[in-house]
Amino acid sequence: MPDSEPRQRVDLEDLALHEGATVLLRRALAALAPGDWLEVHGDSPELAGHLAAWCRKEGHSCETKQGVPGMYRVQAGSGTPIIVTSETQIAEAADPAWGLAPRGARIESGGPEFAFTLRQKRDVWARELDAIYTQAVANQWSASRDVPWSQLPKLSSEVEGAVAQIMTFLTENEFAALYVPARFIPRIHPHYREVVEVLAMQVVDEARHAEAFTRRAEAGGAQLGTTAVSGQLSLKTLLEEPDFTTAAFLLCVMGEGTFLTLLKFLCERSPDPVTAALMTLAHRDEARHVAFGTEHLRYVFEREPNLRATLAAAVERRSRMLASISGLSPYVHDALVIFAGGGLSTGQVRAGAQHVAALHREMDRARRERLQALGFEPEVASRMSSYHTKNFM
Ligand SMILES: [Fe+2]
Ligand SMILES: [Fe+2]
Repeated sequence: MPDSEPRQRVDLEDLALHEGATVLLRRALAALAPGDWLEVHGDSPELAGHLAAWCRKEGHSCETKQGVPGMYRVQAGSGTPIIVTSETQIAEAADPAWGLAPRGARIESGGPEFAFTLRQKRDVWARELDAIYTQAVANQWSASRDVPWSQLPKLSSEVEGAVAQIMTFLTENEFAALYVPARFIPRIHPHYREVVEVLAMQVVDEARHAEAFTRRAEAGGAQLGTTAVSGQLSLKTLLEEPDFTTAAFLLCVMGEGTFLTLLKFLCERSPDPVTAALMTLAHRDEARHVAFGTEHLRYVFEREPNLRATLAAAVERRSRMLASISGLSPYVHDALVIFAGGGLSTGQVRAGAQHVAALHREMDRARRERLQALGFEPEVASRMSSYHTKNFM
């Protein structure tokens, strides 16, 4: 039986409800159990009527204290049930009814359900999320401020054309790398906010890469190059991958992993300091994207070791879908040869072609190493690497 003696007293003096008295009332009532009484003093005009109406709306009951003007008794109602989630404990499954509430908040029950389809921890989680996010925030750069544009020399038209073609190719890949995480973000339950934060930074990184690479293509006076159907088809399969873990594997581990080798190559063979600086900055960002993908896959493989076989099959399936593509687009291949060789003389082309062949071997080696680090058997890793799209991403 609740005690009819008031548990709390609040003196509103002449403060009216519309002047903020509800703040004091709510605080006092929050400390009470349902059924407990609060004694309210106050002499603002019309307090009796306003207090009664407010109590009705908030689910409390109110009465005047007989014979004492300016004194009221409010009995605390049961209020809206509250769901409490833990800040530190990350749930294995997140409830759609938690909605957009930050983890650790108290949540009024009865809220709308959101269609977050990625709401199991296993679906999205990775270790090192805090470290990856902190690094991403600390290492943001600006294409305007942090690139030595004024040091861009006048290159031969062949080399400048090759740079523009490579930048065109990089930019279309950047768009793919932007759209893939962007389409998954709204599906991830906010309970796993660290994943959302890391992917949001990834989207920002890719937007900056696309901006910077396009700007480099235009800076030397050459026009943007040609986009091949083969490249677009390959990227389309990435954009259409419906499963988050498979998409993270194909994009972040296989694709961006291969791009790490490409960006390093472009930096080392760069004909000018602007391109070299851009490649270095983008490489640092891509290393984080690869780290996220790798850590997510590691987390999943610890729980589902057999998923390795499924992903090996996914790489093979993608390769079959792209079977009509004989290899890297000739626009990109030729541009890489001219870029690496430094020009179009036979000697330069021979040297360039050797460098590009070495690039392919290094991409394959690094992919196999990355796959083996994720627990794939060496033969499986070799087969998967050889099936990887010839368009790098
Ligand atoms: Fe990128
Ligand atoms: Fe990336």
